[in-house]
Amino acid sequence: MIEQRRADGSLRHLITLETLRRDEIESLLLRSQHFARAIGERPPTGRSLQGVTIANLFTEPSTRTRVSFELAGRRLGAEVVNLEVQLSSRVKGESMLDTIFTLQALHFDVFVIRDAEPGVLAHVSSHVAAGVSVLSAGEAHLSHPTQGLLDALTIRQHKGSIEPLSIAIVGDIRHSRVARSAYQVLRILQAHEIRIVAPPALMPEAHEFVGCPRFETLERGLEGVDVIMMLRIQKERFAETAIPDGEEYFLRYGLTPARLARARPDAIVMHPQPMNRGIEIASDIADGPQSVIRSQVSNGVAVRMAVLETVASRLSS
Ligand code: CP
Repeated sequence: MIEQRRADGSLRHLITLETLRRDEIESLLLRSQHFARAIGERPPTGRSLQGVTIANLFTEPSTRTRVSFELAGRRLGAEVVNLEVQLSSRVKGESMLDTIFTLQALHFDVFVIRDAEPGVLAHVSSHVAAGVSVLSAGEAHLSHPTQGLLDALTIRQHKGSIEPLSIAIVGDIRHSRVARSAYQVLRILQAHEIRIVAPPALMPEAHEFVGCPRFETLERGLEGVDVIMMLRIQKERFAETAIPDGEEYFLRYGLTPARLARARPDAIVMHPQPMNRGIEIASDIADGPQSVIRSQVSNGVAVRMAVLETVASRLSS
């Protein structure tokens, strides 16, 4: 079990949503909504993290998560350093833990880490000094907690309460940390139904996604749903598979207007991005009136502000 709380029960690390209580999720979402702004509106700023120093350590590529963690920290007054891992001593063989100890000696307070190796986040969090927080920016196929929170926030903004909703998670669920964090947060928020829709080769293990009906075609899986969460095929996480490539995948498993019409007429379409247009989703849908994909991106900064403030505002000077 990953220990994410301080002795007084407050949240110190965020590595998984799995063990968070509903009131903790609600409180993070409430604070995120406070920071959320529509696209085009001026973003809020504050000083609650003045004197806090944050390191972004990403050993896998990222656009949205890295930039939004950086903006979130800066907008709250923190100092933020992006470690260029390819230019760091990691490439000379320095371990993640030695890198962390080095940065800790330079008085960093928060480490935001993305890594492809399962367990690295828990390992680091169990070795950092008291007062230092570790936040996941995506761990292997296991967890992407701030993505789960921003997805829940986006659904709430567009559909109101999550409790009555039928939500379909669609695509490469087997290799997706986004799907696992979405499942965790939606289960805690008691969504009416979480369906998983995937080709057989991309279904998760039988012991995962407990209680979720499984569908192997979008035609059946999308029938009457309120929310469609599309996923990218995580080609970097498997060597070879029985699933078809590109155009053929789209013909069999892509979100097309005809398949979208199976969902409720007011259904929203989500995608964590990066997306492969014409492979898992038609471009017209990604840019269409039911898409909330850009809201998800925008909410990423708000959620990361709420998370940083929750774990680190007590450290500010
Ligand atoms: N959704 C997401 O994690 O995007 P990035 O990989 O660009 O951070």
